[in-house]
Order: sequence, then structure tokens, then C-alpha cells
Amino acid sequence: MSTLILLRYAAVAIVLAAVATAQSAAQQLSPAAPPTPSSLPTPLMGWNPFNAFGQNYDEHSIDDAAQQLVALGLRDLGYRFVDIDDSWWLRREPETMAIRTNLYPSARQAHGTTSFRPLVQRLHSMGLKAGIYTDIGRNTCSQRWEKTANMPEGTQAQREVGSFGHQQADAHLFFSEWGFDLVKIDACGVADYTSAAAVVRGGTFRAFEPPLIVRGKPAESKPEDLASLYASFWRSAVNATSEHLPIVSICAWGEDDVNDWGSRSGQMWRTSYDVKANWKSVLYNFDSAAPRSLFAGPGRWNDPDLLEVGNGEFDKDHLTEARAHMSMWAVIAAPLIISTDLRKVSPAILDILRNPEVLAVDQDPAGNQGVILSQAQDGETVVKTLSHPGTKAVALINRSDHPLTLSLGLSEIHLSSQAPVMVRDVWRGTSTRLQGATITVQLMPKETALLRVEGTPLENKATFPDEMPARIRVLEDGFKPNDRTPDRQWVPARIGFLPYGEPILHENRQDTSAIGVAAGSRIQIDLHGDFKRIELTPRAMSSAVGTYSIFADGKPIQTRSANGRATVLHVEHVQTLELVAPAGGPDHTSFAWAQLRFER
Ligand code: GAL
Repeated sequence: MSTLILLRYAAVAIVLAAVATAQSAAQQLSPAAPPTPSSLPTPLMGWNPFNAFGQNYDEHSIDDAAQQLVALGLRDLGYRFVDIDDSWWLRREPETMAIRTNLYPSARQAHGTTSFRPLVQRLHSMGLKAGIYTDIGRNTCSQRWEKTANMPEGTQAQREVGSFGHQQADAHLFFSEWGFDLVKIDACGVADYTSAAAVVRGGTFRAFEPPLIVRGKPAESKPEDLASLYASFWRSAVNATSEHLPIVSICAWGEDDVNDWGSRSGQMWRTSYDVKANWKSVLYNFDSAAPRSLFAGPGRWNDPDLLEVGNGEFDKDHLTEARAHMSMWAVIAAPLIISTDLRKVSPAILDILRNPEVLAVDQDPAGNQGVILSQAQDGETVVKTLSHPGTKAVALINRSDHPLTLSLGLSEIHLSSQAPVMVRDVWRGTSTRLQGATITVQLMPKETALLRVEGTPLENKATFPDEMPARIRVLEDGFKPNDRTPDRQWVPARIGFLPYGEPILHENRQDTSAIGVAAGSRIQIDLHGDFKRIELTPRAMSSAVGTYSIFADGKPIQTRSANGRATVLHVEHVQTLELVAPAGGPDHTSFAWAQLRFER
């Protein structure tokens, strides 16, 4: 472990002590390993009630959904996790939590106690997994924002059903006593309960101050403190489970630099606020995750939120949009969590949710999130390198409400036009042999073509960064601007673009083999001894040049002035490479590791 990482852990431990005074010393000090790739090797698939029902559902809705998942063949396609989401609490009790039995009658036990074990066992006996929900603060989202009758009751302390100060007890209850497999941890409790809120002023709830998330204001938020709380829950959850690592789904809506720390405390994290069943919202949530391919891979996934397939502008009367939505989520390896009423789902929508070729794109074992190859106002092309050699999933997205023609050259996806190329349209179910070197599609308004392209690599021995994002991780973001909110397109590190989204150019064309980063950043590339030599051009993106460094398996192999000259690294047997960009300054915020190629 590098000194920097150790220092970071030390800083986290100090912050934790300051924030979570209610936690025991032992809890703060025991370090736990982060989630492993095998704890969620491919993006999660399942069902959640929230988009279908808001807060208006009960145990029957959950049971019905579970039965439908089985009966409709969805479970066998991989949709296994059934979440109960918010609003299940009656009150916190000294050693446990009382469940709202008017909603969950099967939770009623002898002597007036309650338990979710019967519900969890039912789900398990159906071959499904069970997910519960909590908040990282003292109170929940529904307590703050919903007006339903089913809110926690009792004294102020009893109504503090969130996990703050109770991580160990709650993790034990959820995983060890009740047997859940997953917890979704929301964050309203650390965002929306300041003393300025009327419900706090009026004494209904205790203030949580300072808030750890000030929505849309990263400079006023406290990402390190929030990361510590999630880390603390993760440790408790690991301690509470025996056979498998727990699944933790972080719901901090893309705030507080969750990309930096999410993978240390969970296997997936939301990149934006709640998706709505309209086109604009689905594009918005897609955009919050799509540029972040360097943050995803087996065991760590960007989560643009639940599917709206089957709802609103994605219902049976909008099949083009529904297919587009599904294609977008699949090509960026997003979790696929159905959130429509499966009792009423139409056959056409089911065909979309069940398309095995689309699911195979999402669930491809290489775990590469698709990379944006080109992006214009109306059209966008995203390419996901699949595990089968020479095979790519390509999404050609018409974001607009007029017809559009989009094209893609085979060389842009590193395939040869000298060998046969098969193009499979996974929605139409047609396979054609490509004539020529360009794939062209004519798209209806809001249509996405999802293609599986199978050919021969253009260069037998070379691999490019956009073909292996799952092997790349960002260790340090480096320079962080104050407007890095979920609705700004600032991404600390990405392929082909600088953090603010300007394409990285080489000889007037976009260099899609470049990694654009922030000044002062560190990225790691898992080579696993697979490559012999790497070519790259470290390029300062301003007049300030600075010095970059490269480490192989922790040892410095190159420290030079970033003057834009190409360099070669000899990396035979090297497992990991670390690229450290020159430190930043006010006029020097981004940097590019350009024209990267990895040779076997
Ligand atoms: C939101 C969360 C939603 C849903 C809701 C429940 O904060 O993003 O996915 O869980 O809370 O109240």
C-alpha cells in the first residue's frame, strides 16, 4: 500500500472519530478490505418497487413481484435481487427495529416482536435474493419528503431509524438476524435535516449538522466524512455476514465525489438523483454515468438508477424509447433493476426486459463499461468491448426527436476491414455481413441501435485503453473544481476527453486512445503481466508543462517533463502501472496520457 493511501486511511480514521462520536472505538479502528470483484462480478439485476409505486406498496406487492420474476422467467435471466426500499419501519427499539406490520404482516412474531426473516426466507426459497434499505444519517428520505401515513412513530429517538450511530447493530440485524443479501443506503439523513428545515425547527427531528451533503454544492459538502460513515457501515456489514460479502448499494446521488470512495464501501453507487419516466430524465441519468467508465469494473459499478422500462414515456406505447433506455443501461454496464408493476406488464415490454442478447451485453464477464466514442448534440456512439476477442457492443443513440443517420468506421473500434465482420442487430434479431469499412444506421427519433459487432482486431498484438476500462482505476482525482456536481459534466478521468468534456485532439481528430485526467491525479492500470511494451505521449494541456512520473509495481520507471514527446515503457511481467500527472495550478487543471497503446 502506498504512503498516500495510508495517509488517506489515517485521515479517514481521524474524520470518523470527529463525526461519529456514537460509535465504539473498536469499530472505528478495524480496517476492512474493500469489496472484491467476485462479490458482484457483473452489474446487479433485480426489482425495486420505487419507480412503480413510490411509497405506496406493501408485502403483497413484494410477494407478487417475486412471483412474477419467477413466472415470467426473469429470475432465470438474472433478475434476482428483490429490494423492499423505504418505509418499512415502525420505530427503533433498544436492541432492534420494529417493522411496520400493517405493511409487512408476515413480520409479526410471538411476544409482539417483529422480524423480516419470514419474508427473506420466502424470497430465498424462490431462488431470489433480498435487499433492505436504510439511511446513512439518523432519519430517512421518506420521513423528510413524503406525506404518507406509514412513517416511523414514537419519540424523536425512536423515529431515528437511520443507521447513524447504529451501524454495527443495524448491519447485524439486517444481515445476520434477518438474512438479507443487500442493503441500499440512502443519504437524506445527512443532507436534509439542517436546523433551517421547518421539521427540525419545530422539533419533529433532530438536526444533523453540519450536513455532509449540501446538494449541488461540493465545496460546502464533506465527502471525507461521508466516505467514513459508509466505510463504517461496510465494515459492520462484513462483520455481520459469514458466507458471502454483503452487497452494499450507495445512494448518495453522485454527490460528495462518490466515485472516489464508493468502491471502498460498496459495489455500486448512484451517479445522479432519481430517474423519472421521461426521455429527458433518462438521458440525464445516462449522462451522469456514461463518461465514468474508468470507475467501473467487476465489483464496482456506476448506477444511473432504476429502470423506467414499462413506465410513462417508456411504456408499451413507447417501445422505441423503452429499447433505447434498455440499450443505454446495457452498454454502460449499469445495474438492471426493473421497477415497473410486473402484474400489469405488457408482452412487448417483457420482450425488452428479457432480450437475452441485450442482457449479455450488460452482463459480459469482462466488466468493461462502454466508452463514449463520439458525442454530439443529437447523436452519440458508445462502444463496450466484450470478452470474446474481436467483439464489441456498439450503441448508436439518437437523442433527438427527429430521424438521424449515424456512422462508425471499423478502425474507430480497432477492427480490421480486411477480414469478415458480422453485425448483429440485437433488437431486430438480424445478422449481416458488413460490406466496406463503415457501419451506418438510420435511426428513428429517440431510437438506439444496439449492435454486436464481431470481427478481427486491426492490430493483432495491440490493445487500447477504450478496450479495457475495467483494468484502469483512478487512485487520486487530482485537481477538483468547485462545480463538480452531478449535473455538471466534470469527470475526473475519462477516455478520449478531458475532465470537462472537451475532446482530446491529435492531428485534428479525436484521440480516443487518450486518457484525460485532472492535474495531480494518479491512475492505475492492471497489466497482469499481459503486455511487453506500452507507447504513450504524456501531454500537458496548457502552457504550464510540469513533471509526470510513472511507476511499475510501485517502482519509479520514468519521471520527465511533460513536453508532449512520445515515450515507450518496457513492462514485461509488470502487474500494475501507475501514472501520476504533474501537479496542477490555476491555469493548469488537466492533463492527457495520449496515444496510449499496449502491446503484447
Ligand atoms: C431516494 C432514492 C430513491 C428511493 C427514495 C425512497 O433518495 O434516491 O431511489 O429509494 O429515496 O424514499
